[in-house]
Amino acid sequence: MASEQPLAAVTCTAPVNIAVIKYWGKRDEELVLPINSSLSVTLHQDQLKTTTTAVISKDFTEDRIWLNSREEDVGQPRLQACLREIRRLARKRRNAWDGDPLSSSLSCKVHVASVNNFPTAAGLASSAAGYACLAYTLARVYGVESDLSEVARRGSGSACRSLYGGFVEWQMGEQTDGKDSVARQVAPESHWPELRVLILVVSAEKKLTGSTVGMRASVETSPLLRFRAEAVVPARMAEMTRCIRERDFPGFAQLTMKDSNQFHATCLDTFPPISYLNAVSWRIIHLVHRFNAHHGDTKVAYTFDAGPNAVIFTLDDTVAEFVAAVRHSFPPGSNGDAFLKGLQVRPAPLSAELQAALAMEPTTPGGVKYIIATQVGPGPQILDAPSAHLLGPDGLPKPAA
Ligand code: DP6
Repeated sequence: MASEQPLAAVTCTAPVNIAVIKYWGKRDEELVLPINSSLSVTLHQDQLKTTTTAVISKDFTEDRIWLNSREEDVGQPRLQACLREIRRLARKRRNAWDGDPLSSSLSCKVHVASVNNFPTAAGLASSAAGYACLAYTLARVYGVESDLSEVARRGSGSACRSLYGGFVEWQMGEQTDGKDSVARQVAPESHWPELRVLILVVSAEKKLTGSTVGMRASVETSPLLRFRAEAVVPARMAEMTRCIRERDFPGFAQLTMKDSNQFHATCLDTFPPISYLNAVSWRIIHLVHRFNAHHGDTKVAYTFDAGPNAVIFTLDDTVAEFVAAVRHSFPPGSNGDAFLKGLQVRPAPLSAELQAALAMEPTTPGGVKYIIATQVGPGPQILDAPSAHLLGPDGLPKPAA
């Protein structure tokens, strides 16, 4: 079929975020409204990002989507909710501004392709980056300039926090229509340059209980979750914001660990109980506490989402020693892959004193599969070069180079 030129093609990238005050539980499943506010750190896209291309053309007969080069069902309810919402916002804008040259684009179908630069199977939160990137890219292609929290949120709640770089809060809001349930930047990525993030990839297996199903069960059965949302999180949001503003690392680290632990406690308080941490996760928890005790100071923090992988926060002066401690306690497997990916970390010796303080016999190799070293990063970006597009002028995925 001879194609006309597409009306528009846009490619953007978006980051992964990791919550330090966790979102767990919805008060409205349809609108994806949370029972508590949450706060996250945006990770750098040099190490972890989603790239998405959206193309609209009069030639297309249906909306289509490809994820990591495989065509997926565009009828998925969450995807449909995002598409509906962006088109509604686009229509609103067009009505306000007559004579828009792009107004015909609204009746056009869209093709979307999306890839991650990290293995989806690693169990890292890919849905947040994915839906943030979808919202951001669709907004550019349809000329929408309003707040995109709602579009991203309808895909996956935590995705609205990936719309900004640095440190981001998702204010739960009070309105029943969710208009005030929005993500806002607390501080930009340049605010705390010494902060480092290590992702300890423990398991590449698909998790037993997904977040959506898990949090629904927790809302229905856990009295602890209700208590957490009403009586604990509001003060923690304020305290976490202060720690970030003042770059108070021990305060930030302690609250991060406590909030992760409370989230996992609400999972255990769910009936039937949910458990995301495994034996390796628990060894990492002990390792962090012993490392801190040895230094007489909180130098490292862990946090875990709905899976066994650990995300570690520390400062640049501590990274090398902590990586040495991880290497000692979790000897790398011999799969030939690099144990440390991402930012360079200079090799450091492990002192006999620290080794004794850790009091940990090395496990069988491969408990921690690998580490991704990264830092705080910026929000979504637009890629201008046409070569960046994942879809060709015909609107189909370009053959992999
Ligand atoms: C444990 O955003 O994946 O990572 O809104 O149902 O898609 P849905 O859930 P999702 O939940 C994330 C939960 C968490 C904590 C967090 O990121 O705040």
